[in-house]
Amino acid sequence: MKAKKPSESLAITTKVVLPNETNTLGKLFGGALLAWMDEIAAVSAHRHAKQVVVTSSVNHVSFDIPVDLGAFVTLEAKVSRAFRSSMEVVIDVSVEDRETGESKMSNQAIYTFVAVNKEGKSVEVPPIEPETEEEQRRYDAALRRKQLSLILAGKMEPDAATELKALFAK
Ligand SMILES: CC(C)(COP(=O)(O)OP(=O)(O)OC[C@H]1O[C@@H](n2cnc3c(N)ncnc32)[C@H](O)[C@@H]1OP(=O)(O)O)[C@@H](O)C(=O)NCCC(=O)NCCS
Repeated sequence: MKAKKPSESLAITTKVVLPNETNTLGKLFGGALLAWMDEIAAVSAHRHAKQVVVTSSVNHVSFDIPVDLGAFVTLEAKVSRAFRSSMEVVIDVSVEDRETGESKMSNQAIYTFVAVNKEGKSVEVPPIEPETEEEQRRYDAALRRKQLSLILAGKMEPDAATELKALFAK
């Protein structure tokens, strides 16, 4: 399969934080953000695979700053690496200052999607060819994250995670 660039999977959306998406402190409810992330990441994975994709695991989510009611929240998702049927998608989330228009990073998340056929069986997807330095860094780290995720899910023996183990040997 011909390799594709991360930029071909770019998916962007901007949301307004509404009252039913806030917690009791009037800040964005984490669960609402997780759903937005899942949705935009699925669009990104689908753009890469051109097949039906399902969420396989949520590998990392950070909630770095509280987000106010009424805030404009922008989510940008891109496939950082594709394996046989699975794809790692990184979602960067920023909040826009409504007076100055400046953007501040508020969250980052890493989700894994798997392309499936009509029977729900995993199917092959194109590989990724990073273009920028950041894309290369994310691509390199994605293999270690996949190994960690598989170990935690009980689907890989730690001894088999060569690249992940190498990180601790430094
Ligand atoms: C995702 C799903 C199709 C994978 O099924 P499976 O039997 O593990 O399939 P496979 O063994 O062929 O693995 C498929 C890929 O997923 C990867 N994978 C499985 N579990 C993983 C995990 N916890 N972390 C990272 N990757 C994982 C495998 O390594 C494999 O990757 P590769 O093909 O790129 O090497 C299956 O678990 C499923 O249908 N889950 C439900 C999905 C869903 O409904 N999502 C919505 C949640 S509400």
